[in-house]
Amino acid sequence: MAKIVSACATSHVVMSPIGCEKQASRVVQGMEELGEKIRESEPTVLIVLSSDHMCNIDLSLQPRFVVGVADSYMSLGDMDIPKMRVRGNREIGKSIVNQADKDGFDMCQSEEYLLDHGIMVPLTFMGLTDYPIVPVIININTEPMASTERCLSLAKTIRKSILEQVSEDSRVSIIGAGGLSHWLCVEKHGDVSEEFDLMIIDLLSKANGAERIASMGNDEIIKQGGNAGIEVVTWMMASAISESKSGKKYFYEPMYKWFTGIGGMELNVK
Ligand SMILES: [Fe+2]
Repeated sequence: MAKIVSACATSHVVMSPIGCEKQASRVVQGMEELGEKIRESEPTVLIVLSSDHMCNIDLSLQPRFVVGVADSYMSLGDMDIPKMRVRGNREIGKSIVNQADKDGFDMCQSEEYLLDHGIMVPLTFMGLTDYPIVPVIININTEPMASTERCLSLAKTIRKSILEQVSEDSRVSIIGAGGLSHWLCVEKHGDVSEEFDLMIIDLLSKANGAERIASMGNDEIIKQGGNAGIEVVTWMMASAISESKSGKKYFYEPMYKWFTGIGGMELNVK
């Protein structure tokens, strides 16, 4: 049986520090420290949950969920992250797809998924680009988006696949990589809700946090955290996959210059 050795959740953008130097410095330092915590757990593979930014999921194909099943992936090179190849883990990607089949999910699998900033910013700033990854993508680009309850169910399926199907020597770390509150291209464009962000971090620092976020539902999360703040489902899923009952905030800044709250936390695994 494979082991889940660590888990965390983090925002996935780092932008210009001009005009917010001290905050940006705390964000970068926080990501480094969170990465160090993950490395200390000696993972052999990272499952990274994120969203897509109209890079792979666009109007032509609109799957609810995508799992990478490739031996390696190229990065897109957006947000000043260099183009590079990152190793994958076909066995774990396929295990998730197979377990999903049994549990009633028709997963979309990909062998040529381009890694955009949603995955590459956390990997780069956390110092984790040398580890093999399995990308798990939640489509927030097109309507209708999967419900929070459906995302929570998929998280349980992913946990089951790791514990029941993946080889014994795998040490798996779970990274939920999504933004906290942000409104993009809508009436409140650029707004940040510190209250929503700290509530999410607080919920995931306690038992049943993932369930409580799921029970809010998509509409309430979008109302309180913004149309792009729905990316917090990746945090919820990381918590549910690792069955975390407590957590620790590493950093949080309401980054109005970056149009979003930026945070990161450790999720304690069983
Ligand atoms: Fe994003």
